[in-house]
Amino acid sequence: MAQIFPKWTNQTPLLGLVGTLVGGGLATFALYWWGSPWHTDVGYKPKQPVPYSHKLHAGDMNMDCRYCHAYVERGPHGGVPSTQVCMNCHSQVKSDSPKLELVRKSWSEFKEGKADKSVPWVRIHKVPDFAFFNHSAHVGVGVGENRAAVGCETCHGRIDTMEEVKQVAPLSMAWCIDCHSDPAPNLRPVERLTAMGWKPDLNWTEKARHIATTLNPPGSLSQAARRTAEGKLETHATAGCSGCHR
Ligand code: HEC
Ligand code: HEC
Ligand code: HEC
Ligand code: HEC
Ligand code: HEC
Repeated sequence: MAQIFPKWTNQTPLLGLVGTLVGGGLATFALYWWGSPWHTDVGYKPKQPVPYSHKLHAGDMNMDCRYCHAYVERGPHGGVPSTQVCMNCHSQVKSDSPKLELVRKSWSEFKEGKADKSVPWVRIHKVPDFAFFNHSAHVGVGVGENRAAVGCETCHGRIDTMEEVKQVAPLSMAWCIDCHSDPAPNLRPVERLTAMGWKPDLNWTEKARHIATTLNPPGSLSQAARRTAEGKLETHATAGCSGCHR
């Protein structure tokens, strides 16, 4: 009897593995269930109050995404631009276009100090409140010379070709975990964050593979259990659910 306790202690790593397998099983089930098409909003393209075109502004005119989505590197939300950003140009350009009427209305309400003064843009992408997502943690990952980015294009597609924005990724749990388990193919140099149509060369592909080994995103199935150089099994708390469900 007296030996049961020490034996059990010896098996702690094994229990860790069992725990990981159960967690992995749950995650696999979730991949299957929540990744299925009827649980996603791919293709969602609501009508917007102003016929603003990303193809024209971000594509033909080549404006950087951050001119309008200024907070994307600094906080959880990319945010939609204030009317002032539009008026930087549209107080002169096309200043009497009927298509810009709501923008001008919002601008004069802003100047009069009215409460509800923004253009009522319709929100497209939305992760439920019980899951945590932060742009700044994605548009810059890793440290020092292992710094890299997940590009806007990777998650939002070729925005520069869209007259109207539509959702191209499912934003499902399976989608998140798929990338977290193998981020390397989705990494790019930080300077290419907002570039559209960017493709890695062989050098970068190598480097990205190395950078990925320095990362540990929550839910990564590939890093849930690893052997150390000494052959010890290590399990990672970040592999669990609380990284995204806080
Ligand atoms: C001139 C300003 C401007 C620029 C430049 C711009 N956007 Fe936008 N963006 C907007 C406005 C306004 C909206 C809200 C209306 C809409 O959805 O079209 C928006 C909406 C979006 C949305 C959807 C937001 C939601 O509700 O889910 C995404 C994603 C997005 N932009 C990505 C980008 C990317 C990527 C780039 C660079 C390639 C970019 N934008 C460049 C103004 C801009
Ligand atoms: C790793 C995937 C990923 C990357 C990279 C990414 N986004 Fe997003 N984006 C999302 C998700 C997920 C949402 C929904 C967020 C939510 O509901 O809180 C979103 C929402 C948005 C929105 C709507 C407002 C908001 O912030 O919730 C805008 C605008 C936007 N993204 C712009 C951008 C731009 C510009 C870039 C590049 C600089 C970018 N995103 C990079 C996944 C991504
Ligand atoms: C850097 C300058 C610039 C900014 C900032 C800008 N636009 Fe524009 N916009 C233009 C130019 C240039 C055109 C094209 C004019 C033309 O067709 O000759 C245009 C065209 C448009 C049109 C089509 C007008 C028509 O009658 O065909 C709409 C709508 C529009 N922009 C909305 C917006 C909105 C909404 C914002 C803010 C989110 C915005 N723009 C920000 C420069 C800008
Ligand atoms: C295309 C790849 C990709 C997609 C898609 C993606 N992520 Fe990530 N995520 C990453 C990378 C890379 C990291 C950085 C890990 C690090 O820095 O160690 C990360 C880190 C995180 C972190 C940890 C950072 C922090 O703030 O604590 C959270 C939480 C997270 N992602 C949530 C999500 C959620 C939720 C989704 C789906 C809605 C998602 N991610 C989709 C690549 C992705
Ligand atoms: C990388 C981030 C991430 C990790 C890690 C993660 N989740 Fe999620 N989870 C999400 C997102 C995002 C959603 C919302 C998906 C949607 O809206 O389709 C979600 C949805 C769910 C839901 C669905 C709730 C509903 O709508 O019915 C459950 C249950 C859940 N997760 C459980 C778990 C469990 C258990 C784990 C650990 C094995 C886990 N999650 C790990 C991101 C994550």
